[in-house]
Amino acid sequence: MTTAETGISRRTVLIAGGTAVGALAVLGGGYWLGTTVGQNIEGTPKVGTELGSGKEPEILRSSGGKLTVDLIASYTEVTVAGKVARLKTYNGTTPGPTLMVKPGDLITVNFTNNLGEPTNLHMHGFHVSPSGNSDNVFVHIANGETFTYEYLLDTDHPAGPYWYHPHHHGMAADQVFAGLYGAVVIEDPKEIPVTTERVLVISDISIQSDGNVSGANMMSKMMGREGDILLLNGQIQPSYSTQQNAVERWRIVNSCTSRYLSLSFSGGSAVLLGKDSGRFSTPRQITEVSLAPGNRADLLITMGAEPVALSYTTVPHPDAMMMGASTQEYSNYPLATFTPDDSQAGSVDSIPPQQSGPDLRSSEIAAERAFTLAMPAMGGMGGMGNMNGGFTINGEPFNMDTINTSVSLGTVEEWTIVNSTTMDHPFHLHVWPMQVLSIGDNSVTDVEYQDVVNVPANSRSVVRMNFDRFDGLAVYHCHILDHEDLGMMGIIEANPA
Ligand code: C2O
Ligand code: CU
Ligand code: CU
Repeated sequence: MTTAETGISRRTVLIAGGTAVGALAVLGGGYWLGTTVGQNIEGTPKVGTELGSGKEPEILRSSGGKLTVDLIASYTEVTVAGKVARLKTYNGTTPGPTLMVKPGDLITVNFTNNLGEPTNLHMHGFHVSPSGNSDNVFVHIANGETFTYEYLLDTDHPAGPYWYHPHHHGMAADQVFAGLYGAVVIEDPKEIPVTTERVLVISDISIQSDGNVSGANMMSKMMGREGDILLLNGQIQPSYSTQQNAVERWRIVNSCTSRYLSLSFSGGSAVLLGKDSGRFSTPRQITEVSLAPGNRADLLITMGAEPVALSYTTVPHPDAMMMGASTQEYSNYPLATFTPDDSQAGSVDSIPPQQSGPDLRSSEIAAERAFTLAMPAMGGMGGMGNMNGGFTINGEPFNMDTINTSVSLGTVEEWTIVNSTTMDHPFHLHVWPMQVLSIGDNSVTDVEYQDVVNVPANSRSVVRMNFDRFDGLAVYHCHILDHEDLGMMGIIEANPA
């Protein structure tokens, strides 16, 4: 057994009969022991958070059509809620720096791996070449090596919130869970006027009392590991200051390894511009938004005179009971609060008309394909010892040497993602954004593009995509990263027309 599998996680504690601790202990730091089980955490902001002390990741901005970044992945001692933890970081912080770029830019990343294990880098959601030193997830960067990535964004690349994370097969979940993620913003060609822009990266993590990140056991990998503590921009319940009547642009990234997020915005009014790279033609007034692992939300929040809380409520895991696993529930738990000072924000102009992607429902379809996601039965302890091979798409576990799907550039396809299991899976395709036609029994009437689409338990979701450009090899997979690492991934080859 590797050390990663011997680490104490919330679920191993529970299985061993761990006792529940009070919610206050969690908010005050009792989470450190990883024993925060069996409780219902209701939302009061953490006592003692200094007003306005919330941080945002450093911004690295392109200029003159170029952004060149040195990115170093390494172990770093980081202070989380006043205690030193040993995390995996990009450039010493978690999240790593935010890359702010524009359509048409060339991004050069001089990447150095000092993790002591192999890794690589993926730009999640980018519509760029998957080959060579572009967004190529088959690149293997050994410890101590440097590799230069170059990502050329086309001038018509969709604006939106994106993110980057490691994608080395078999190690993605461990590395993301330990702190390796960062945001990318592709700015709007026509600026949306606001008072303030923020990047809010949400993640979860479990940290042992010795400061090391907890590993996962077979059961938590099966369910998708979730951390004991929720972080926003690497902090526990940070507090940000703002102005009265400010219009804030929030770009929210769900970089949790496996956790689905249901988010609400008490105290403010929220308008959703889009999810992932998909912009809605008509922005939507919302009171909550759910983000599967890997999804992003692009939001406008209008403040009043009162604080606004960005709050999280647990999305129940259908198998949790059967697995005898965590019953830690959050309801309206403030991930961060935004408190207006005495000043009034100046008024901002209304947003320019927005354009959604093309509606592929009227396109001719070159192929219809079905992809069935499968995993070992939940609760079937007999299968637990032999999970490699149990996580499959169309019966095949991921194999580096097998091309599972071949498509032709210049065509539109319709894919039905079938979920034959008792839990939801977030389906992700690299390079080509998916237009969502239906999720389970709900068909989508507007034009909505996402790069992670939820597939509900024992149900199916239908998407279409336009393989308009970029030949080469890419992947599709479940974005519960433990499932991806265990084999719920396939290789797609796009062939020139
Ligand atoms: Cu966010 Cu294939 O990954
Ligand atoms: Cu991706
Ligand atoms: Cu999955």
